[in-house]
Amino acid sequence: MSRFCQSHAGVGDAPLVGYTSTQTHSCVARAFDILGLGADALRKIPVNDRFQIDVDALETAIATDRAEGRTPFAIIGTAGAVNVGAIDDLEAIADLAAQEGLWFHVDGAFGATGVLSDRLRPRLSGLKRADSLAFDFHKWLHVNYDAGFVLIRSEDAHRRTFSDRPDYLKGADRGMAAGNPWPVEYGPELSRGFRALKIWAQLNEHGTDKLGQLITRNCDQAAYLAEQVATQSNMEVLAPVAMNICCFRYVHPKLDSSALNRLNEEIVIQLQLQGIAAPSTTIIHDNTAIRVNITNHRTRFEDLDLLVKEIGRIGATLATDADQL
Ligand SMILES: Cc1ncc(COP(=O)(O)O)c(C=O)c1O
Repeated sequence: MSRFCQSHAGVGDAPLVGYTSTQTHSCVARAFDILGLGADALRKIPVNDRFQIDVDALETAIATDRAEGRTPFAIIGTAGAVNVGAIDDLEAIADLAAQEGLWFHVDGAFGATGVLSDRLRPRLSGLKRADSLAFDFHKWLHVNYDAGFVLIRSEDAHRRTFSDRPDYLKGADRGMAAGNPWPVEYGPELSRGFRALKIWAQLNEHGTDKLGQLITRNCDQAAYLAEQVATQSNMEVLAPVAMNICCFRYVHPKLDSSALNRLNEEIVIQLQLQGIAAPSTTIIHDNTAIRVNITNHRTRFEDLDLLVKEIGRIGATLATDADQL
């Protein structure tokens, strides 16, 4: 790797700083790097026991940066954090952003589409206060890759950021150059694909009611999975279920924490290799978690019963031979 890729310090002596939580997806730090601000300019604020950004700590961090001569410019909240699906207190962040004069962006990659679900919509009301919102149609709305989306509140700010109309892209009232403003004025691409077509087709075919019901069912399924895990003496839930993600692990009284981490890693690999299920792993409070993020419209409740049963089987087998892990 070149030495240029190893620095997160940004280009020059940039004093701009932004804020997000420790639970935020790494794409935000990557965006800071791409912008030239450097990932170090993104302050990662601790979370509470529900994995939401600690708003008091956020306020303190902003005050500290200002006192030390830096320039806070943005807060990035999350609606549906990648590890456990936590929804930040978006109203409180919006209030703080307004008070401090900061841009309020929300990463709602999968969670924002929860507005279609009767169950989630009330908890997402703070989305309407964001200055910008990113989310993906290719996650919970089942559109094929890729179909990322960003909404920016101010049409004027959005267009001024990207609009560049040289002589050869001059608009007109009539003819092929008519129809201002042009789509190219809202993003960095000039030639661009027609992602909107597949999104339109999906919404047109299924309608937002049905898609919302599927989201609700996935949340019910994650809650159901946590209930099933809680009834097992050899498993424990590692985080509250906020949406459609259940994080838990297999436990065994004779194994210490690093052996349990290796065991749970191996359980997930075995689930995948044996063709049973395809969860991922993450780390919750230093523990390896089996992370089940249910966004599939085909998932059935009985699939989750089978998953718990198979984790019990694989876990027991591996635990008897834990030295080999
Ligand atoms: C909260 C969140 N943000 C961003 C991303 C990145 O999405 P993508 O891989 O579609 O760029 C994810 C992916 O899981 C996510 O969960």
